[in-house]
Order: sequence, then structure tokens, then C-alpha cells
Amino acid sequence: MDRLLSTKQVADRLGVDTKTVLRYLRQGKLKGSRIGRDYRIAEGAVATLLSTAAPTAEPATATAALVTAVVNQKGGVGKTTTTFNLGVALQRLGRRILLIDLDPQASLSASAGIPVAQLTASVYQALLDEATDPLPLIHGTTSGVDVLPATIDLAAAEVELVNMTLRELVLRDVVDKLRPRYDHILIDCPPSLGLLTVNALAAADQVLIPLQCEYLATRGLTLLLRTLTKVQGRLNRNLRIAGILPTMFDGRTTHANEILAELRANFPGQVFDVVIKESVRVKESPAAGLSILDYDGNHDVARAYIQLATEVDHGR
Ligand SMILES: Nc1ncnc2c1ncn2[C@@H]1O[C@H](COP(=O)(O)OP(=O)(O)OP(=O)(O)O)[C@@H](O)[C@H]1O
Ligand SMILES: [Mg+2]
Repeated sequence: MDRLLSTKQVADRLGVDTKTVLRYLRQGKLKGSRIGRDYRIAEGAVATLLSTAAPTAEPATATAALVTAVVNQKGGVGKTTTTFNLGVALQRLGRRILLIDLDPQASLSASAGIPVAQLTASVYQALLDEATDPLPLIHGTTSGVDVLPATIDLAAAEVELVNMTLRELVLRDVVDKLRPRYDHILIDCPPSLGLLTVNALAAADQVLIPLQCEYLATRGLTLLLRTLTKVQGRLNRNLRIAGILPTMFDGRTTHANEILAELRANFPGQVFDVVIKESVRVKESPAAGLSILDYDGNHDVARAYIQLATEVDHGR
């Protein structure tokens, strides 16, 4: 016979808080019987929910999601890692989260455990045909965040979009259809300032810039900020900078400390207080299909992403 679990035990298994479990019970996603002030939920039902991991997209509500584009044209600075871990951390605060993978490399989709090679549809279809309903393209994940995945087709979108009217605004239409269903939408951008990234900037309310604390990484920041100003002027007047996030920080080196101090001096008020340290545990977690919060919840980097989530959530 199935073992019976308490709401707390189910919350731990699903990686959500107990309020979310109670919501699942109310919605009929989980079945349980009430015992005193708690519920007893069959272990099998929890396993089924985990394996199907239905998207958490809910009927439209009056509040609209805050849309954050995670951008840096430099490769390998921690955009995808930040999108995924920040998303999971926000989900743990009880928020409904959608991650949009806008990088044809599809690393975010893969990190979140989506079988990218078997996908037949992705954000690409929604971009190229405005009649496409994006909702059925969204996947639930065991981490509790929803993902609108990418496939390699998206590489072609960069070229195909060029011939479309209002080509910078196609993602905005897709995002606006999804805003009422989530509290936060995070967009993981490719390492370029091409049309896909411009689409993300046009669709977003704010930009989060992961930045490695090294000389060459900071040089590109000026170009990125210039692009943001152009987008603000021409496409999205309301776009603001959420902050620059120092990533892969190695506090043992003088160089990294100097760059961080310089960054704070040159961009006062624009650099997050929280710093993401370099750690091999962060590198290992995607291979295990887990966020750092699930892989090693007490790790410094897991705590840092939770602190970042609190700061980002205040911006709503
Ligand atoms: N805090 C960290 N400590 C150690 N390694 C990290 C950390 N953050 C990210 N990494 C690793 O660095 C590599 C690049 O990170 P990530 O893929 O997030 O960067 P990106 O900016 O999305 O790259 P791309 O521009 O190619 O999309 C990955 O192997 C990732 O696991
Ligand atoms: Mg990436």
C-alpha cells in the first residue's frame, strides 16, 4: 500500500512550500484526506505529479509578470546559470515562474531537464507565427519552474525575423500573452546583441547583467549599456536596469576584488550587493539536472541566488 505523507513531506519532495501543496490539493492536482489540521497524501500521487510535472501556468490573474531579460553579449558569463537558479529561487518564494530560452544552444532547456533532442516545437514557432498559442509550448519541470524551451531552429529565426515587419517586437507579443499567468518571466539571451537579444530587450521590463569579475568581461559592458540606451530610445522607453550581477567571483584573487571595487565605483547603485562566487558545485549541478538550490541547498551560491531572488522580487 502507498505510504501516506504530510503536506510538509510532500512539499519537500516537490521542492515547493506547503502553501503550494495546499493549492495543489484545492485545485485537485493532488488528492489527500484531511486529518485534523493537516492532510495525508499518498506517496504514489506525489510520484505521478513529479513525473508529469504539469506546467504551473494558471488562469490569467489581474497582476502581470515582471519580465527580466538576462543579457550579456559575452559568452560564458553565467546568464543561463543565473536564469535557471534565480528562477528556481523565485519559485521557492512562492512565485509562479516562466523561463524563456532564447538561445539556440538550448542550454537552459537542457539544464531544466527538458529532452531538447526530442522536442518538435519551441519558442521558435511562437516567434515566427503570431497565430501560434504559446501556452501549449510550455513545459513544466521537476524544479517547479515552467520553461518555454529553445531548439536549434532558433538559430534560423535570427535570419528569418529580418524580413518580418516589426521584427524587433515579435517576442513582446508572445510575452504579453503569457504575462497574466505568471509572477516573473525570465528570458535567457544568447551571447550576442543580435535580433533575438533585441527582441528580449523590447519585451522586458528590466535587464539583469551577469558579469564576470575580470578585465575583458567588463570592457563589453560599455557596448551593452549603449545598446540598452538605444533600445530605450527606440523600442522600449520603460526598460530599466535591474542590476549588474558579479558572477564566478573568486575572492582569493586581488584581481577579482579590484575589478569588483572598480565596478561598484563606476556604476554606483547599479551593482547588486549579492555576489555569485565561483564554485565547482555550480558546474556540476546542471549535469545532475538540478538547480544549485536542489543540488546543494546550503551552499553559498544557493544562498546568494535566494538573496538575489528576494531583491528581484522587491522590484515587482
Ligand atoms: N558561479 C559559478 N561557479 C562556477 N562555474 C559556473 C558558475 N556559474 C556558471 N558556471 C559555469 O560556467 C559555464 C558558463 O555558464 P553559463 O552557461 O551560465 O554562461 P552563459 O553566459 O549562459 O554562456 P553562453 O553565453 O554560452 O550562453 C558553465 O559551464 C557553468 O556551469
Ligand atoms: Mg547561456
